[in-house]
Amino acid sequence: MLVKMIEKFQKNAESLSVPDIMPLLTAKGHPQEELFEKARKVRREVNQDDVVIRGVIEISNYCRKNCDYCAMRATNNKLVRYTLEAQDIIGLAGKIKKAGINIVFLQGGQNPGNDNVLGQVIPIIRNELGLDVVLCLGERTKETYKKFFLLGASSYILKFETSDPILYNRITHSQLEKRLQCIEWIRESGMKFGTGNIVGLPGQSLESLANDILLGVRINPDFISASPFIPNSSTPLQNYPKGSADLTLNTIAILRIIIKTPLIPSVSALESVFSEGQTAGLNAGANVITVNFTPKNFQDIYWIYSKKRFVVSIDHALRSVEHAGLQVRKRFTNLRVLK
Ligand code: 5AD
Repeated sequence: MLVKMIEKFQKNAESLSVPDIMPLLTAKGHPQEELFEKARKVRREVNQDDVVIRGVIEISNYCRKNCDYCAMRATNNKLVRYTLEAQDIIGLAGKIKKAGINIVFLQGGQNPGNDNVLGQVIPIIRNELGLDVVLCLGERTKETYKKFFLLGASSYILKFETSDPILYNRITHSQLEKRLQCIEWIRESGMKFGTGNIVGLPGQSLESLANDILLGVRINPDFISASPFIPNSSTPLQNYPKGSADLTLNTIAILRIIIKTPLIPSVSALESVFSEGQTAGLNAGANVITVNFTPKNFQDIYWIYSKKRFVVSIDHALRSVEHAGLQVRKRFTNLRVLK
């Protein structure tokens, strides 16, 4: 019955409405299993079953924004700040290549102060190491996005976080409209584009989450994610409950079924919410896992999600892929084989 409903959706994605999405978003037990099964079927049909592994380097924890969920917010003066040197980033990218991973994901706070380093490292990682460069560096100018593309970056991730402009403004102290404008600029730059939401933000309703899915469908990105909210110490939201794993997994499955082809990460925050969370994400239709290559001393002060966040190793990524009964994508087969 649920599958029939989904099939109707797939034929007419533009006409989807919040009440259409609600029963899928809240599915539990058998209907939820049906939803995940359908998501896996769609992933197989569009040839997206093989899992993409990315290597992330967290280049800097300086940030000009002040999002209430993030401990790297500008006004958090308890945090020791760092920016990696160009030569260190290049060395880490070499390590990623050596591990057999062909995608270097450079993530950092929103800070034009990083541009000098980025101008040095992107062309080297792209042209000399021959790796794909994916960026996640926040809201920047139209010219900067174009510059990143011309330097050699292939993709950029900027999550919309929530589709609700009032909630967005309350939690990030900035305008959703600006975020959506940046999304347009990224697309115009020539880079591929990724986006996504946070599930379980304080004050977020189920209707709002259904609207996030509709916004994701409307944007039609190359990658899309759903991540549970993680209460982060030394933030104004530290005492709120974490986001629901079921709502996050259902969001992943619905996005896979409707948008079909995008890369969908099974994020590390899922593993923080429950053990085997990333395997569950793959079982719900995701097909990307990001392995962390930030040196340990900097990892410890990159306070994304939480101070005690789950840090993904190659072994953990491969185990999650194996537990989900999947394989890594062919171009990554030189990854260390599981014992
Ligand atoms: N909970 C969930 N997601 C978070 N992010 C940052 N902090 C949190 C948190 N506490 C996500 C945001 C941001 C991305 C880089 O990390 O979606 O865009």
